[in-house]
Amino acid sequence: MNIQLKVTDATKLDVDALCVFVGQDHLDTLASLNEKLSGILFSVLKKEGFTGKKDQLVSLHTHNRIAPYKVILLGLGKKEECDSHRIRTAVSQGINEVKRIQSQRCAIDMPVEFLKGSDISRAFQAIVEAVLISTYEFGKYKSTQDEEKKPKLTTVYLHVLPRYLEIAEGAVHVGTIFAHAICQARDLVNEPSDVTTPTHLAKTAEAIAKKYPREIRVKIIEKEEAQKLGMGAYLGVAKGSVEPPKFIHLTYTPKRSKGKVVLVGKGITFDTGGVSLKPPEHMETMKLDMAGGAAVLSVFTYLPELDVSYTVDGIIAACENMPSGSALKPGDIVTALNGKTIEVLNTDAEGRLTLADAFSYALKFVKPDYMIDLATLTGACMVALGQDIAGLWSNSEKLKKALIQSSLVSGEKIWDMPLPDQYRELIKSPIADLKNIQTGRYGGAVTAALFLEEFVGNVPWAHLDIAGPAFAEKDSTLIPKGGTGFGVALILTFLLGL
Ligand code: BES
Ligand code: ZN
Ligand code: ZN
Repeated sequence: MNIQLKVTDATKLDVDALCVFVGQDHLDTLASLNEKLSGILFSVLKKEGFTGKKDQLVSLHTHNRIAPYKVILLGLGKKEECDSHRIRTAVSQGINEVKRIQSQRCAIDMPVEFLKGSDISRAFQAIVEAVLISTYEFGKYKSTQDEEKKPKLTTVYLHVLPRYLEIAEGAVHVGTIFAHAICQARDLVNEPSDVTTPTHLAKTAEAIAKKYPREIRVKIIEKEEAQKLGMGAYLGVAKGSVEPPKFIHLTYTPKRSKGKVVLVGKGITFDTGGVSLKPPEHMETMKLDMAGGAAVLSVFTYLPELDVSYTVDGIIAACENMPSGSALKPGDIVTALNGKTIEVLNTDAEGRLTLADAFSYALKFVKPDYMIDLATLTGACMVALGQDIAGLWSNSEKLKKALIQSSLVSGEKIWDMPLPDQYRELIKSPIADLKNIQTGRYGGAVTAALFLEEFVGNVPWAHLDIAGPAFAEKDSTLIPKGGTGFGVALILTFLLGL
């Protein structure tokens, strides 16, 4: 996709569609366009009841009165509600219409000052992200030829006033990086699990380090070394699979570092549940169980280009959760790297076992200032928050605030959840330090977070349970069915704000 900034009057651009965005009850911004269209614009808008409310869309032929063949009007809603995510959604609706009419070149005219807080740079960044992620497709396994014959959108012009040109150039650069990172994470999740094996994730990490040898180092810890380190919890999960486990450790070092952040991504490349086998309908999408790891890899791919000023370590304890003669069985006891013992009562609660060793490793070898994990950890989190919102648990108010702030910018919804003391006894085992499932039925996402907290020591830590939003079960204009890339923009925004 070719995205170009244009200071030229948008009505003179040679495109087949011009998307014009309008704030609610701000139709006055359309006066000159209406004049150029000999007054038909306002009469059509009136007839269609278009006032600029969010989700409103009106499209009309220009009959050669201006250069674009069609004009698509899109509502932005009220100014006080017009955040960067509203802009992203509105642009994705425009792009959707542009694709529907099979336009190859389109232009976008956005009143960037209409953004709440009028952060011009954020508005342009949001537009670019939306254009790129709403044209994302995972079509490589489709053999049908018809799709290929359809004309594709190849060029998008963004109208910009000369006084904003410089800001917009920077924002287009950052927005393009964010979108590419999101699409990379989507690809990794959408690939079948026999492609994205632990070995594939390790190779991806190695390729990232090879691209930026000065900034990024990678260490892949093989099974034998993990055994020596005492990662009994992680290796317990891995031992049922013929796929070799790969413990991935990436390090990004900036020129001058302000501190250390560890990002941990759950990297179960397929979760069958193990011997506590999942029913088929719950297993269908379980290639998604490395979405946290995919997000971490995608963030790393772009850290050098974004010039992040913290040292960032990325850790993915990648393996497959399979049932077999060599698999972990309910009742088995494993010992994590930090010495804590865990009674495994359900082999489907495997994510916390791999994270226990990833955290212990980070504390021992990295000693971070902050640690954040992204994990498709529990179905219970989806019961609590639905499919669009991730749960956020943290032992640090400061870290929590920073992540919530970042999520308001990135548009990925997260919700503050508790770490209540009175639930801690629910994960105590009579014969080991902990058990991997709780006593009783309720609050499974909370007890999972409490389990993780046992492995973070005093490090300011935040846990994002992304089981719901990591994977879309139906198409929307911004996110097609499949991997969503959730967490990528959130973490990049957080790192840039540190
Ligand atoms: N990977 C799943 C969680 C999950 C479920 C992610 C649905 C995305 C969509 C996790 O490993 C799991 O199976 N968790 C169990 C825990 C239970 C056995 C305590 C669950 O949520 O049912
Ligand atoms: Zn599981
Ligand atoms: Zn899992």
